[in-house]
Amino acid sequence: MSRAPREGRPAGAIGSDVDHALEVLRGGGLVAIPTETVYGLAADAEQADAVRRIFAVKDRPPDHPLIVHVQSLAAARTWTTQPLPAAAEQLARACWPGPLSVLVPRGARVIDQVTGGRDTVGLRVPAHPLTAELLERFGGGLAAPSANRFGRVSPTTAEHVLGDLGDDVDYVLDGGPCPVGVESTIVDCTVTPPQVLRPGGIPTEDISRLLGESDGLGRVSGGQRAPGMLESHYAPRCRVVLAESSEAATALAAAERIAAREVGVLDPGPDDLVAYAQGLYRWLREADDAGVSVLVAVLPPPDGLGHAVRDRLQKAAARR
Ligand code: TXA
Ligand code: MG
Repeated sequence: MSRAPREGRPAGAIGSDVDHALEVLRGGGLVAIPTETVYGLAADAEQADAVRRIFAVKDRPPDHPLIVHVQSLAAARTWTTQPLPAAAEQLARACWPGPLSVLVPRGARVIDQVTGGRDTVGLRVPAHPLTAELLERFGGGLAAPSANRFGRVSPTTAEHVLGDLGDDVDYVLDGGPCPVGVESTIVDCTVTPPQVLRPGGIPTEDISRLLGESDGLGRVSGGQRAPGMLESHYAPRCRVVLAESSEAATALAAAERIAAREVGVLDPGPDDLVAYAQGLYRWLREADDAGVSVLVAVLPPPDGLGHAVRDRLQKAAARR
């Protein structure tokens, strides 16, 4: 069943028609898929031309590898060398389907266009009913980065995707707003101890607990980050200024207003980190739509989902 196409767009460009999404993917096209974290821009991970088109549409450097989305842990095993590293197996059993990506040794099925020639591959089983159905019927893997232009804010609704990519995406599978709102946690399971390369929807504390490691499992920094995790990323058009408290934000906002700037304040409070993560990218987009030139954002505490929200805000605030 498809939803009505929106005005001015080709019929069928958006809807919840899994049959149509399958047809587009099998034909080498691009489909924006809903996941629990953000929308992804998906192509058949085994069709080189389709994967190349993802990079062209996103304007993304070819050495920034893509995560391959699969339907199950059993399916994930077909994309790596056997057996999976113990840490990947342990984390996947506990977190999939869910907002976790594991980096594991790359299997023979993985093409160079997906990994930028690296010998590791990122794998994830997303938790969204429409995409779960799509993956199960598709049978293969879907290479998918977030469905935004390179360096911009990730989309958490089908409307965001259309607003960013327009006709460059062949079909948007509309699964409603994404419930988690920030990208998956990426854990490199090819090193000992495993390393969290990007904080995300599964809190870092949970990863440590699941692996039973009290220390040694840390975030990497600087040049050791995965490619694509540039300091300036996830950026709205407005300038983002960070504050550690509501009081500090009020003072910073007042100073910006004296300079006659259009100022917004993002301060959802420290108590509901799930709501902060869920709303973050929408609020950044709304600030741009409202014509704000400076957004003062209060950082959440560094616990649970707060790590991912702080990471994205710090990148949004980095000088471009
Ligand atoms: O929640 C998510 O992970 C979303 C949804 C759509 O699944 N995807 C996502 O993809 O955020 P993307 O491409 O925007 O971010 C993936 C990050 C990139 O920084 C990429 O460089 C890194 O993961 N990455 C992927 N495969 C890698 C590999 N083999 N080695 C190192 N880094 C890798
Ligand atoms: Mg991205």
